Amino acid sequence: MERAVKSPLRKLNEGTQDLGKVIDLDGYKLPRKLKSLFKKIGQAADESGVNVYLVGGLPRDILLDQPNLDVDIVVEGDGVAFAKQFSRREGGQTKPHKQFQTAIVVLPKGLKIDVATARTERYKQPGALPVVKVSGIRNDLYRRDFTINSIAIQLNQRNYGKVVDYFGANQDLKAGIIRVLHQLSFVDDPMRTIRAVRFEQRYGFTIEKKTERLLRETIRAGLLNRVSSERIGKEITLILKEKNPLPAVKRLSELGILDAIHPEFRVDQHTEVLFSGLERILSSANLPRYFSRRVLYLLALLYPLSPQARKQVTQRLALSKKVRNCVTELEPLEDKIRFLENPDLKPSQVYFSLRGLSTEVLLFMATRARVPTRWVFLYLEKLKAAGTEISGEELKEMGIPSGPIFKNILDKVLAARLDGEVGSKQEELKLAEKIWRGENR
Ligand code: CTP
Repeated sequence: MERAVKSPLRKLNEGTQDLGKVIDLDGYKLPRKLKSLFKKIGQAADESGVNVYLVGGLPRDILLDQPNLDVDIVVEGDGVAFAKQFSRREGGQTKPHKQFQTAIVVLPKGLKIDVATARTERYKQPGALPVVKVSGIRNDLYRRDFTINSIAIQLNQRNYGKVVDYFGANQDLKAGIIRVLHQLSFVDDPMRTIRAVRFEQRYGFTIEKKTERLLRETIRAGLLNRVSSERIGKEITLILKEKNPLPAVKRLSELGILDAIHPEFRVDQHTEVLFSGLERILSSANLPRYFSRRVLYLLALLYPLSPQARKQVTQRLALSKKVRNCVTELEPLEDKIRFLENPDLKPSQVYFSLRGLSTEVLLFMATRARVPTRWVFLYLEKLKAAGTEISGEELKEMGIPSGPIFKNILDKVLAARLDGEVGSKQEELKLAEKIWRGENR
C-alpha cells in the first residue's frame, strides 16, 4: 500500500488530480519506433505483473506536442529485474545500477531506456544526494521538481495511455505555469532554480509567484554554493544549448542566480549587444563546419567580466579544457581587435594576428562591430589551411643549421606566399635562401 504523501505546502498544489484521462498515444506526433517500444514495454510489464509508467520530460512533451526522445520509465516493483527481463526479451543490453535501483537498457537499434524503481527521496542536506526508499508511483512523482514534470503515462495494456496526474500538472501545462510540488523543492536541490528558468523560457511559461519567492529565498540563502561545480556547469550549459538563450540568461541574472555564481557575473546591455552580434554571425551562410554554439554563447557571457572573474567563473562551473583555453584566448583580444580595425591589412598580417585562435574565439571576434567580418572569414576559409611548399627538409639541404631560425624563415616564406609575392616552390626556395643570407650578414 502506498503511503499518503504529506505535503507541507498543500497550498502550492491546488491543482486537481487527474487520474482518469486516457490519451491515444498513437495519435501523437511521436516516432513510430517509440510508439512500438511503448507497446512492447506495456506487454512485458503485464507478463511480469508490474505497473510501468513513462515519466520525466517525455510525458510533459507528449502533452505539449514537443519533440523529445528520452525514454524514462518507472516500475512499481523491481525496476532492475524488469529492465533485465525486457532487455533479454528484446535482445538488448542492461547496465544496472543496483545502489539506486535503476538500469539503462540499450536495444539493438540504439534506443535507450532509463528504468527506475518507483521511490521516494529524502534530502538530509540541501544539494546532497538523497536517501532513497522504494515506493509507489505517487511518491515517485512527488519527489520531482515541478508539477509539469510530475506526470506519468501508464504503459500496461489495460491502462495504455492513462495519464497519472496527482498534482495538477495538466492544469499547469495548460496555463503555462512552472510550480514546485512542495516548498522544500529548491532546498532539496538548489539546481532546480536554474531548471525552473530553463523550462519557463523554453516553453514561454511563467514561474508561479510563490515558486518564484521560494526560488529567490533559496538563492539569497546561498544554497547554490552547496551544489557541485560540475552540476551547476552542466545546468548552465543546458540553458546555452536552448534555441535562443538570451532571454533565459537575462532571467538568471534578474533572479540573482548569476550573481550567486560570481558577484561580477550578470547580463547587462554589453552582454546583450554581444549576443545580438552572435545571432548576426550565426545566421551567416558560410559558417565553419565544426564549432560549438554553446561555447560562443559562453564567451559572450564571460567577455564583459574582468580576466580574473572569467577564470573564477570557468572554475566554478567546472568548464571543459576547451572552454578554459578559449577564455585564455580572450585576454589579448582587444589588442587584436584594434589591429584588425585597419581595412587595408595584408593577408599575412591577418594570418599572423589570428593564427592559433580557436574557431569559437574567431567567430566571437567577428561579432564585434569594429572588426571587419571579412578578415575573420578570409582567415577561416582560406588563410588558416595555407602552408608553404618547402619545409624544414629543404632548409636542411640548403645547409641551414636546424633551430628556431627554421620557423622564422618558413613564417617569412609563408607571409610572402599569402600576400602573393611567391607562387611556386622554386620561388619559395629562392626567398628562403635570401632570408638566410640576410640573417647571416
Ligand atoms: N528531476 C527533478 N529534479 C532535478 C532533475 C530532474 O525532479 N534536479 C526529475 C524531473 O521529473 C524531470 C526528470 O527528473 O522531468 C528527468 O530529468 P531530466 O532528464 O534532467 O529533465 P527533463 O525534464 O527530461 O528535461 P529535458 O527535456 O531538458 O531533458
